[in-house]
Formats: sequence, C-alpha cells, structure tokens
Amino acid sequence: MPWNPNQYHKFQAERSAPFEDLLKLVEPRSNITAADLGCGTGELTLHLADLIPDSQVTGIDLSPQMLEKAQKLERPGLRFLSGDQSDLGGNWDLIFSNAALQWSEDHPTLISNLFNLLNPGGQIVVQVPSNHKHISQRLIAETAQEEPFRTYLNSYVRISPVLPIDDYATLFYHLGAENIIVFEKIYGHVLENAAAVLEWVSGTVLVPYFERLGVHKDSFLAVLRKKFEKNMPGNPVFYPFRRTFFSARKRSR
Ligand SMILES: C[S@@+](CC[C@H](N)C(=O)[O-])C[C@H]1O[C@@H](n2cnc3c(N)ncnc32)[C@H](O)[C@@H]1O
Repeated sequence: MPWNPNQYHKFQAERSAPFEDLLKLVEPRSNITAADLGCGTGELTLHLADLIPDSQVTGIDLSPQMLEKAQKLERPGLRFLSGDQSDLGGNWDLIFSNAALQWSEDHPTLISNLFNLLNPGGQIVVQVPSNHKHISQRLIAETAQEEPFRTYLNSYVRISPVLPIDDYATLFYHLGAENIIVFEKIYGHVLENAAAVLEWVSGTVLVPYFERLGVHKDSFLAVLRKKFEKNMPGNPVFYPFRRTFFSARKRSR
C-alpha cells in the first residue's frame, strides 16, 4: 500500500498519546531482542529502544516510503528492515507493535504465531485502532458499496480484522500466557471540523481505497466530504477514537 509519511504525521500529537500508553505496558528490561512491527518512520521505535537499553531492536515495515525515513535513524542496536509483519520469524524477547497489526488478517493465527516466537519470559505488547464502528468508517464502507465506486473498487470494502477485547484475553489464556492485560480506551480528539476528520482517515483507513481507486480518488473524496459534513456538523467536531491494547508474557520455565 502506498503509505504517505507526511499525510500520516499530520495528526502526530494525537497519535503519540496511545503510544505513550502502550510504552507503559512494556516491562522494563535491558539487553534483550525486540521487534517493532509496522514501525513506520521509526521515531517511536527510537523511543522504544531508549526504554530497553543495550538491546537489539529491529523495526520492520512493508512500506519503502516509511522505511526510507526510518533508516536515517539507525544506530548501533537499532535497525530497520523491509518485511511483512505476518511473516516474522526468529526468536524475540519483546514483540511490540503500535497501530499496525490491524493491517494483517486473521488475528487468532497472527497473534498465536507471534506469541510462539517469544523466548521464555518474553512479552508481546500491541495497540490497534478499534474504531471501526465510528460514523466516519461506516460512511466510507457505505460509499464504497455505492456506484460508481463499487465498480471502481471491484467490490472491495475494508473489514477490520481487530477482535473484541475478550477474544484477545481468551486467546492468550489458551496460549498459556501470564500477565495478560487487555483493555480498550477512548481518546477524545477535538478536530476543527468534518474536513479534519476526513484528513485524518486519509492517512490511514482510506489508504487501501486510494490504492484501488487510482484516478477516481478525488471523486470518492468529494462524496465523502459531503457525507462527513452532514453527519459531523459544526466546528469543532468531537472525534472519539477507540483503541485496543493487549500485552501478555510467555512463561519462563
Ligand atoms: C499507522 S502506521 C503506524 C506506524 C508506527 N508504528 C507508528 O505508530 O507511528 C502503520 C504502518 O504499518 C505498516 N504496515 C502495514 N501492513 C504491514 C505489514 N503487513 N507488514 C509490515 N508493516 C505493515 C505500514 O507501512 C505503516 O508504516
């Protein structure tokens, strides 16, 4: 998918709050191996590396545009590699991911596979957006199913693979994990207007639609702009954003 670092970073301040909350779940350790899946431009990977001194930290991302920026931050103990997070191999003391695993399907299999890569005593710490029921997302799915976009998109509609939080807890229980923490949190963002909400989703949820729409991207955005203004009137607009956090540790023998 053609990720655009500049578009994504337009709401960097709002996006840093969940990252700070995620970092609090990392059990402080040093001299470990850690993977940051879907590391993006790498600034947050750098913060993670500072939290676990003397460690070998690897940021992994599929997007050349994101990685080009990230690789400028490399230093001893911190590297960035191209790869698909769902194909991760190796063994790790910490598998970390902020706002990226929602781009991989089949979370029961994905999370089980990742958990199995942990060394004894290792930890998985993840945050994924779970705001797929917000009106903005419902309007995107609705518009994608209307003509002419349905044809342009070849009937594609993005369905979030993020599970209800109970399912993550149950999954970790059956994997034999300990220190299982799972919760949802709402981040209340106050944005200027409906157009700002559209800007936000243009850097994330709309990315796979833009990829498929090609030259029809602007007409899709024009329809969405009208619907967003009608359904999120006023100035400012309150944008409640739901996120799911989970963390679990593999037992040390
Ligand atoms: C919303 S950004 C999050 C970036 C970073 N973790 C942060 O919090 O700023 C999602 C990132 O996941 C990456 N991504 C999406 N699917 C991926 C996959 N299957 N494997 C690796 N990275 C992926 C994208 O390229 C993008 O950089």
